[in-house]
Amino acid sequence: MARDGVVLEVDAVSRSFGALAALTKVSLTVRADQVFSVIGPNGAGKSTLFNVIAGIHVPTGGRVRYEGREISGLAPDAINRLGIAKTFQITNIFPEISVFENVRVAAQSRARESGRLTSLWRLPDVGDAVTELLTSFGLTDKRDELAENLSHGEQRYLEICLALATEPTLLLLDEPTAGMTPGETRAATALIRRIASARGLTVLLIEHDMSVVMGISDRIAVLHFGEKIAEGSPDEIRSDPRVIEAYLGPAEA
Ligand SMILES: Nc1ncnc2c1ncn2[C@@H]1O[C@H](COP(=O)(O)OP(=O)(O)OP(=O)(O)O)[C@@H](O)[C@H]1O
Ligand SMILES: [Mg+2]
Repeated sequence: MARDGVVLEVDAVSRSFGALAALTKVSLTVRADQVFSVIGPNGAGKSTLFNVIAGIHVPTGGRVRYEGREISGLAPDAINRLGIAKTFQITNIFPEISVFENVRVAAQSRARESGRLTSLWRLPDVGDAVTELLTSFGLTDKRDELAENLSHGEQRYLEICLALATEPTLLLLDEPTAGMTPGETRAATALIRRIASARGLTVLLIEHDMSVVMGISDRIAVLHFGEKIAEGSPDEIRSDPRVIEAYLGPAEA
């Protein structure tokens, strides 16, 4: 881990698509074991920021450092091998194989690519690690079900399992509770929090549900038209006049 427990530094990152400035000089410092959330209206640049961090988009300005090392410009699989995993707004699972096989494939692709002995491989059998992950997400009963037969909420859980199977240090979750029932959302939130502390995992989260964000986050950054307009603790964000005006609105404040 880098000095001062800093896992990720986003340093004045800009990204344009033609004439559209999706991100303008956004800076963030994410520390180990934090749940750090990024909020903002539709089109604010949240997913673009995650795509820059994960290597899907090259920044048009600024840089990203992970554990002290510059990663901007590296390919997504190289960034994943360094320990950053990302889930997508659109689900990323293989529908026609079983739940268990989905997670096993993710775990094994990680172990094979990295060529290093991960803790997954130190377990007697990669199957044990997969079973452990499925158990923590309450998917044990569904292990032999085809992934396509899971409910929407269960598929989102499975997707988080796939990301965790690659044993990340930093997990990027882009709207993990989208489309979940309120009950699933509450359970998922508690689970993300628990897994983060149990595994020493740092989580960067995009989330629209303010009750989730306020309950789970150590720190929150607010994007608006591609610029960071605020950053602070949940209490600071809740009472920030610019955030209320741009995003929360007086009713929710
Ligand atoms: N690949 C792309 N090509 C062109 N424009 C893009 C691309 N990706 C994003 N944009 C644009 O960049 C802006 C920011 O989009 P982004 O998806 O980052 O927003 P967001 O904050 O994640 O929004 P949402 O809450 O709706 O998911 C939008 O205007 C979007 O249309
Ligand atoms: Mg988005």
